[in-house]
Amino acid sequence: MSTKKTGYYCQECGHFTPRWLGRCTGCGGWNTYVEEYVAPARNRQVIEHQVTPRPLIEVTSLDCERRSTGMAEFNRVLGGGVVPGSLILLGGDPGIGKSTLLLQVAGTISSDRQRVLYVSGEESPHQIKLRADRLGISNSDLYIYPQTNLEAVEEQIAKINPMLVVVDSIQTMYFSDIASAPGSVSQVRGCTARLMQLAKKQSVSIFVVGHVTKEGAIAGPRVMEHMVDVVLYFEGERHQTFRILRGVKNRFGSINEIGIFEMSNCGLQEVANPSAFFLMDHVYRNVAGTVVVPTLEGTRPLLVEIQALVCPTSFGTPRRMTAGVDHNRVALITAVLEKRLGLMLGNCDAYVNVVGGVRIDEPAADLGIAMALASSFRERPLDVHMAVIGELGLTGEIRPVTALDKRIREATQLGFERCIVPRQKGLPETGELELKQAATLADAFDLAF
Ligand code: TYD
Ligand code: MG
Repeated sequence: MSTKKTGYYCQECGHFTPRWLGRCTGCGGWNTYVEEYVAPARNRQVIEHQVTPRPLIEVTSLDCERRSTGMAEFNRVLGGGVVPGSLILLGGDPGIGKSTLLLQVAGTISSDRQRVLYVSGEESPHQIKLRADRLGISNSDLYIYPQTNLEAVEEQIAKINPMLVVVDSIQTMYFSDIASAPGSVSQVRGCTARLMQLAKKQSVSIFVVGHVTKEGAIAGPRVMEHMVDVVLYFEGERHQTFRILRGVKNRFGSINEIGIFEMSNCGLQEVANPSAFFLMDHVYRNVAGTVVVPTLEGTRPLLVEIQALVCPTSFGTPRRMTAGVDHNRVALITAVLEKRLGLMLGNCDAYVNVVGGVRIDEPAADLGIAMALASSFRERPLDVHMAVIGELGLTGEIRPVTALDKRIREATQLGFERCIVPRQKGLPETGELELKQAATLADAFDLAF
């Protein structure tokens, strides 16, 4: 009989319980516990003596030269490039292009006479070769290694001494000291910890691919996100060609940055002017229910089109559907429209969508959403050369927004002629663009309709 102890780990958050439970007491998820072997506690009497505390001023700062990925969009999300010795997790839906993105990065870095090890637990070398041919990559310094055993990977890293390692994916890796199956919480956590040690010890940068669950979190434990230096998500609509790379955590830079790519038949291409890309044919349409909002993604302004459709409901309770904006935010804006402007939306279904699958979290898009809803409700198109910026308060006031100058500059560059803005101090100088200030929602509507 096996003497190994088992316990139950939540596959979502890594919570441990000795008995099976239907609901995780850690994260509240249902039916998430899976039985796994419990690793024996380490002998704590072995204390490492080599390392002693040192005053901070004596610590020499590492010459942190970041390495370019060859793609400006990717570099920006990373905060300027890949930091040596960092562990970077790239999450995303299957088929979104994670392997393609990392193979392209591996190709660029290896073309610079730097060794790169691409460990794949999912694809055969032939499959990777096919993709590399498609991407036009053929370098003698790029090593493909089909392997799922982490010790073997460690051995090869020591032997080849690469500058960059790609592990595709963490859910296929296993470590023989841990008895549970690959992809389980213990394995994923154990392998991540090992890779982290390796990255720091050998000063090699490691990219790790992580699959995403239906709920949108990286499959396996959320604990993995705490362990790595950088967490990136690769998102996009399956049916569309563009992809967004988003920083969720970054120990070496800002997390609000996004990078925009387009999937072509020879790999991912950077989109240099995303605003123009997302607006595409906006100016050619003169229909009710659409408006352009200059939003801010990190430090970068991005012009997006918000569309709304309001129509009489055929159900008892009107439907409210949103894509790309917060559902509750739209409910609030609808209530403000009803109360402050007397727009009777209570008997109408309302659908709000951000074109191109972009997600907007910032309140500066409130006024845009309100305008789109009202435009659709009244069946009156808005001026296609007008952009709208402003946060909406419950009393119908329009609040100032941050970085107004950046937003306006972007709108000017794209040929917009007018912009409704909040009444705020320090309005930027504009050339051709006419600024129209509005203190309340009613003011804004007078200016727009
Ligand atoms: P892949 O990188 O395998 O996705 P992931 O690793 O995230 O699962 O991407 C596969 C998809 O990308 C597949 O549907 C084909 C498409 N693709 C292109 O459109 N063009 C290309 O040049 C490549 C290599 C892939
Ligand atoms: Mg893949």
